[in-house]
Amino acid sequence: MPGHGNHRVRALPSPVPAIALWWCALDASAGERAEDAALLADAEHARAARFGRPELRDRYVTGRALLRRLLGAALGCPPAAVPIVRGTRGRPRIDAPGAPDFNVTHTRERSLVAIGLGARLGVDLEHRERPADSTRLARKFLSSDEQRALHAYAPALRHERFLRWWTCKEAMSKATGDGLAAPFGALTVELEPRFALRDGPAPYVPDAWQLWPVAVPDDYLGTLALWLDATPPAA
Ligand SMILES: CC(C)(COP(=O)(O)OP(=O)(O)OC[C@H]1O[C@@H](n2cnc3c(N)ncnc32)[C@H](O)[C@@H]1OP(=O)(O)O)[C@@H](O)C(=O)NCCC(=O)NCCS
Repeated sequence: MPGHGNHRVRALPSPVPAIALWWCALDASAGERAEDAALLADAEHARAARFGRPELRDRYVTGRALLRRLLGAALGCPPAAVPIVRGTRGRPRIDAPGAPDFNVTHTRERSLVAIGLGARLGVDLEHRERPADSTRLARKFLSSDEQRALHAYAPALRHERFLRWWTCKEAMSKATGDGLAAPFGALTVELEPRFALRDGPAPYVPDAWQLWPVAVPDDYLGTLALWLDATPPAA
């Protein structure tokens, strides 16, 4: 993919050649923030203005601007001109024939962006120290097979394993656009020895999906989901 020309963005190794993965730092100087803001569309400024906390607003502005730079480099157009629209259930996509698909996830001051052709993409990023009641959430979001597998891990490993399942399911829900409406508890993902969807209701059927752990820096866990059956970035 062509250069994005920004020191706050770095390429991560991608398990799939047609898909580029980018790691973005969302902290910025005042000067950088002003340059970032200049790239946003009116609707993005309106969204930024709705964030109650200044740090969340600033991260959104920088995240969007870095995303626009990456997509602009991929499309060969100025960042501010990238036609980002909201599709099904708010899933963002590029409104241009033959455009690549993309997806973004952010946690704390970092974001992970996937851009590529050949599949609908979903990414999810969590911080390993994310406070979460894994046991309670596992009952809600993990299938019974996954809950059994979770409890077979040593207690010290369970939180990290739970977060890995979480990122798999979130990434799939973001590839389809289902988000919160995805049938999380009905999906069974195998973490070992294969890293793959094992069972689920359509469209979450194993043959249609690939899951990949993303090599993000140590304190984070990232997962990329590829929905291979999808009509490329449809509404
Ligand atoms: C948007 C959603 C899909 C994910 O949100 P999240 O995990 O809080 O946030 P992430 O940082 O991973 O992703 C947010 C980004 O996804 C994108 N997005 C928004 N809606 C989306 C959708 N329906 N599908 C795919 N991507 C979407 C946007 O780019 C958004 O970033 P932006 O707000 O800066 O534009 C939302 O439905 C959600 O909150 N899901 C949580 C469901 C849950 O609890 N799952 C438990 C699994 S075990």
